[in-house]
Amino acid sequence: MSTKVGYFPVPGRASEHSLEPERLRAAVERAARDLGREPDVVFLHNPEHSLSAGPEAVRRERLAAACRVLEDAASSGQCGSWGISSWDPRPLGALVVGLPRPDVLMVRSGLLVRNEVLEAAELLAAGLRPSQLWGMSPFGGGAADSVWERFDPRVFLLEAERGTAMQAAFRAACRLPAVDAVAVGTDNPVHLRELVGSLALGVDEEVVVSYRRLLREVAGRSEARR
Ligand SMILES: NC(=O)c1ccc[n+]([C@@H]2O[C@H](COP(=O)([O-])OP(=O)(O)OC[C@H]3O[C@@H](n4cnc5c(N)ncnc54)[C@H](OP(=O)(O)O)[C@@H]3O)[C@@H](O)[C@H]2O)c1
Repeated sequence: MSTKVGYFPVPGRASEHSLEPERLRAAVERAARDLGREPDVVFLHNPEHSLSAGPEAVRRERLAAACRVLEDAASSGQCGSWGISSWDPRPLGALVVGLPRPDVLMVRSGLLVRNEVLEAAELLAAGLRPSQLWGMSPFGGGAADSVWERFDPRVFLLEAERGTAMQAAFRAACRLPAVDAVAVGTDNPVHLRELVGSLALGVDEEVVVSYRRLLREVAGRSEARR
């Protein structure tokens, strides 16, 4: 069971991201109380939102201080382990020097993730060397997106006829980037069962390699047009 801290409701206005150590400490305590048990993993939620301004050394120290709060929480048994979850890891790559090593890094994964974000996630994982890399939001937040009507992701399966389109998109998300696990919502047990059932389906690695090459080519063309 995993949860995240660092995104705080504010009465009367939109929720806000914060890396303030005291707020993070209180949020970890509250998470265990709300869940009725210590979470297995507590993630720092999209720290890039709080790191867009200021000198690099200051941003690095703020991120390190926030990570130390979660590292301490894991050491003292308030959670099983800790991690960083990032929707857009591009601003984080330059800040990893001196950071505590997280147990888990969670990044967006799947067919709707752009080349720059995939590459930034892989670079961040190489710099942080987490024990595990997880993917999230494998359908880009919504399975109802019309892209799934226009494109059949079963091309990514070794045996296309054995899986549904959602299973194939989920399996592709396990390889884009290559992750140890993919976090999905648990609201609907039927959906969850379908996705868990897909884990036995093999992914065609040649298709993954070709797809990554196409993504890079498209990114290169857009860069050249700028
Ligand atoms: N850091 C961030 O900013 C961020 C943002 C988004 C998500 N996340 C993380 O990623 C996790 C998953 O995110 P998520 O809830 O957006 O993704 P998700 O579980 O992939 O669900 C996305 C949508 O796809 C639907 N769906 C899932 N399986 C399906 C299936 N087999 N057939 C048809 N529809 C299906 C879901 O419906 P149901 O809900 O009805 O199953 C939901 O509407 C979250 O728990 C969170 O940890 C993080």
